[in-house]
Amino acid sequence: MNVNRKILTLDEFTLTQLRQFPSATGELSRLLRDLALASKRVNVEVNKAGLVDILGDYGTVNVQGEDVKKLDIFANNQFMGVLKHGISCAGIGSEEMDDFVVFDDEVSNNSKYVVLFDPLDGSGNIDVNVSIGTIFSVYKRVSELGKPCTKEDFLQPGNKQVAAGYMVYGSSTMMVYATRRGVNGFTLDPSIGEFTLSHPDIKCPETGKFYSVNHGNFFQYDEKVREYINGCQRKTKETGGPYTQRYIGSMVADVHRNLIKGGIFMYPGTLDKPKGKLRLLYEANPFAFIVEVAGGLATNGVQRILDIQPTELHQRTALFIGSKKMMEELASITNS
Ligand code: AHG
Ligand code: MN
Ligand code: MN
Repeated sequence: MNVNRKILTLDEFTLTQLRQFPSATGELSRLLRDLALASKRVNVEVNKAGLVDILGDYGTVNVQGEDVKKLDIFANNQFMGVLKHGISCAGIGSEEMDDFVVFDDEVSNNSKYVVLFDPLDGSGNIDVNVSIGTIFSVYKRVSELGKPCTKEDFLQPGNKQVAAGYMVYGSSTMMVYATRRGVNGFTLDPSIGEFTLSHPDIKCPETGKFYSVNHGNFFQYDEKVREYINGCQRKTKETGGPYTQRYIGSMVADVHRNLIKGGIFMYPGTLDKPKGKLRLLYEANPFAFIVEVAGGLATNGVQRILDIQPTELHQRTALFIGSKKMMEELASITNS
């Protein structure tokens, strides 16, 4: 079969974008290519996870006190490796590492960007063949070029992100990334090993029919959140319900579906964990950026996610994210 030359590959697409900015250096395109390369390696391992003895707990506990699966570590090392050896990244922060990693070599010290990532999201789903993903967030350094990057480069509010994206290892493998100019989705064509533009200029529908939340925690949510969730199950003056409940337990897959089809995803604070479970720097911020560029909204229930000033790498936040109208319905209840 001939290769369809009308469909742009990820590299062709980023090059086309680059040509519109004669002053651009191409460093961001290189960075995206590095991330895509690592994700292709992860994809191969994820695909054969059921075949090889790579499943199960790695026998360690990550810095959040959760069991670490082997594939989390494998994915972490792939992303760290390509970014360290590429020319665009001065340092990283990852869910799987206690602290930021400053690459501190001659090339990296002259690189413009730092990257934060969740190498494998939804890893509890690996054993049961359910979609999982990778999430990444890119910032331009605020520290001086030519020197090692610093903590301040990583602790910037989400509204300073230059790009953010995710890969979903699902029924097909996709990479979706956003810059301020738009959100675009690429599907991995296994026959040529390339991500190809399949979802140009993604817009999050203004409203949708899905709400995604862990119902098992219902009685741990505050009263207003419970009121909204109840509203999702019937038609009220605030909500256009009843909506359909969909919750896989991999944020990447849940938010991806709601981004494409319209919907709201919630991980509220609970009595035990008032700040919820999700991490600001490599889960909430990148998704907030993507969804806002696509026309949706993201808050922690009180404040816009992208305006939160981070204080530490692994900090958690409550998260409400999705279609604009559904987010406004939620706010009309939580702000009343
Ligand atoms: P991770 O696998 O990176 O630890 O993230 C899992 C997260 C997220 O993907 C998902 O939305 C959430 O955990 C599910 O949590 P609950 O099982 O508490 O609903
Ligand atoms: Mn995660
Ligand atoms: Mn993870």
